[in-house]
Amino acid sequence: MIKICFVCLGNICRSPMAEFIMKDIVKKNNLESKIFIESRATSYEETGNGIYPPAKKKLAEENIYYDNNKVSTRLEKEDLKKYDYIIGMEERNIINIERILKTSDKKIKRLLDYSNNPRDIADPWYTGNFDKTYDDILEGCKFFIDFLIKNNIV
Ligand code: 4NP
Repeated sequence: MIKICFVCLGNICRSPMAEFIMKDIVKKNNLESKIFIESRATSYEETGNGIYPPAKKKLAEENIYYDNNKVSTRLEKEDLKKYDYIIGMEERNIINIERILKTSDKKIKRLLDYSNNPRDIADPWYTGNFDKTYDDILEGCKFFIDFLIKNNIV
């Protein structure tokens, strides 16, 4: 069983979208028994708050199941041992993850670093553009699952 944690600033938009998009891909590939997925925040800003409504709306439009009870939780130092992959959405997340975990371990990566166009996931917080964020996350998750399969990790 490999354990993946997606991470963003608030854990109410980008990382929960990545969590449920990746769970959908994993389910469609019959890999549910091999891959465990969660998501976390680098801040306590939204702790205890649910997924941001526009993010839920976009997931529902794309027929992606999400857990309506999912609430924001911050990443903590002990999580370095718990997860095999700690995947940030943007460069700033990586800096904050490394600060929380007190290491620059190779299990810490940016989602679109698995793609052939490495970049940050579009941040919907100020733009309100959840379509672009969804497209970026889907692209990243497709490359990430291909990486895990091609390298016989799952
Ligand atoms: P997320 O979005 O990091 O994708 O969950 C944000 C959530 C909250 C804030 C910023 C971005 N905030 O400034 O509180």
